[in-house]
Amino acid sequence: MSKNMLLQRNSCKSGIWLLQKIKDHSICSSFDCGDDDLNDYFHNESIPHKEQLIAQSYCLQSSTQLGVPVALLDFCNDSISFKDYRSFITNADVKKYPSLPAVKLTRFGVNQPFQQHGVGTHLLNMVKALFMTDNRTGCRWITVDAYSHVVGFYEKNGFELMTDKDKDNKIRAMAFDLKRFSPPPNFKFDIG
Ligand SMILES: CC(C)(COP(=O)(O)OP(=O)(O)OC[C@H]1O[C@@H](n2cnc3c(N)ncnc32)[C@H](O)[C@@H]1OP(=O)(O)O)[C@@H](O)C(=O)NCCC(=O)NCCS
Repeated sequence: MSKNMLLQRNSCKSGIWLLQKIKDHSICSSFDCGDDDLNDYFHNESIPHKEQLIAQSYCLQSSTQLGVPVALLDFCNDSISFKDYRSFITNADVKKYPSLPAVKLTRFGVNQPFQQHGVGTHLLNMVKALFMTDNRTGCRWITVDAYSHVVGFYEKNGFELMTDKDKDNKIRAMAFDLKRFSPPPNFKFDIG
């Protein structure tokens, strides 16, 4: 887990996998995760969001197939308000803060040919490692507004539902406590 100076800043390498900020958005053009809204966002909306400093897109590639967008994801800053999620924040160590710093995984999709092969899970571990290592600003949680039909995937990856109030909604608020991250056996990574 040493710092690798050859890696681009804010990137993560793990085995054959390389997660880094998208510089050339043409890599998104062949992306299809099977969800029209997500596809449209990565094809057409990610650049304007980046230009407005609202979000930042990242791409997962394999060193065996550089140029192929295995997965695309997007982040922005977030905070969890203690007032809104009183019953969710049970950790005694953080109850004294009115809000908790977080990063929101605003969009996330795995390219269809790579789905159901453990890529999404491995990528979430890389994301956790990226935000935990040398925490650039205080950031305790990863939040996600999850499609209700994908809640099971996030739960398998240690995310928890934050409230019951949205139980009938198509989108559920979920979060992962980075302090609880314990890398799986044999999970190795380098952070740039
Ligand atoms: C949801 C998604 C990111 C999962 O990535 P993936 O690489 O296919 O997932 P993995 O192979 O790592 O799956 C890990 C586990 O989660 C389960 N899982 C995968 N997708 C799931 C889903 N939609 N609902 C419930 N469980 C799911 C898998 O069966 C697997 O379970 P197992 O460990 O018991 O075998 C991917 O399928 C995708 O991009 N879907 C379309 C876009 C989307 O819905 N994005 C999420 C927006 S909130």
